[in-house]
Amino acid sequence: MTRTKISIVGAGHVGETTAQLTALKGLGDIVLLDIPQTGDMPAGKALDMFEASPIERVDCRITGSTSYDDTAGSDVIVITAGVPRKPGMSRDDLLDVNTTIVKTIAEQAASLSPDAVLIVVTNPLDAMVHVGWKASGFPTRRVVGQAGILDTARFRAFLSMELGVSVEDVSTVLLGGHGDAMVPLPRYTSVGGIPVTQLVAHERLQELVERTRRGGGEIVKLLQTGSAYHAPGAAVTQMIEAIVRDRKRVLPCAAYCDREYGVGGCFVGVPVVLGSGGVERIIEITLDAEERSAFEKSVAGVKALVARVAI
Ligand code: NAI
Ligand code: 2OP
Repeated sequence: MTRTKISIVGAGHVGETTAQLTALKGLGDIVLLDIPQTGDMPAGKALDMFEASPIERVDCRITGSTSYDDTAGSDVIVITAGVPRKPGMSRDDLLDVNTTIVKTIAEQAASLSPDAVLIVVTNPLDAMVHVGWKASGFPTRRVVGQAGILDTARFRAFLSMELGVSVEDVSTVLLGGHGDAMVPLPRYTSVGGIPVTQLVAHERLQELVERTRRGGGEIVKLLQTGSAYHAPGAAVTQMIEAIVRDRKRVLPCAAYCDREYGVGGCFVGVPVVLGSGGVERIIEITLDAEERSAFEKSVAGVKALVARVAI
């Protein structure tokens, strides 16, 4: 029986958090790859994580590497490499530098793992998923971006704080690109099955929607030296689990939409069924005029960014 193999390219904050959570859940063997630099950072982080495994009682091999050869035959490739934003920067400011990085990685990793599912995390997210898709040559269903799980988790966290209820009982849907124009959907949000609109006043709900839209920036401002990584790592791990365990989870992810939602050929956040085949289905929900207009605005922003990508 072959063992599941997950390669994470970019052993920085998000990459190492994802590797650690993936190992703790025993989802498969992990290769953590980064560029050569002083010492052997990926090897050090991988060994440190592996030394935790006897305590956590999980049987995953964790290897740190600077060579793509070690990623060959992966079931999942995750790209967490790139530059994170600094205070005052938007995710879009990272376009040029991260395009080069994601392109190089996707080409090399895909050639050695032609059947893998590719998860892109690097910002600006939706445009980088496009780059990963083009550079990998993979079919669209095997290329997916992480954003919506993080953004909905933030909205769920804020609502749980607001109402003093378990985060587990807050459920929601969110559409659009991973930017300040993202579209949280209060109309599709419930708390223990009760529509949130019956529990939180409209104005307050709008404040929480706005906080969610700016949730990434809130962490950047607090940290001053980088961006969020605990919640992002948890979000990526949930996607890895859905794929390697073929769980058919319904999750908001950046997926290629053509006729779906009338998008016309672009990666953007929508609810998908995520399983071993990658994006197995996109679920279309009905939108009212205001929601549709917000979604179209967000898609237009993503398309404008993708048009600037030189690939
Ligand atoms: P970080 O700076 O801690 O780590 C980035 C790592 O990428 C570094 O170790 C660096 O050496 C490595 N790297 C750079 N070029 C590389 C290459 N060509 N090949 C392999 N590795 C390379 O940054 P962090 O916080 O881990 O963020 C990584 C990216 O993820 C950023 O673009 C950030 O904006 C994005 N991000 C996206 C989220 C999302 O929800 N989609 C959430 C959080 C971060
Ligand atoms: C976030 O939303 C950095 O995009 C990342 O925290």
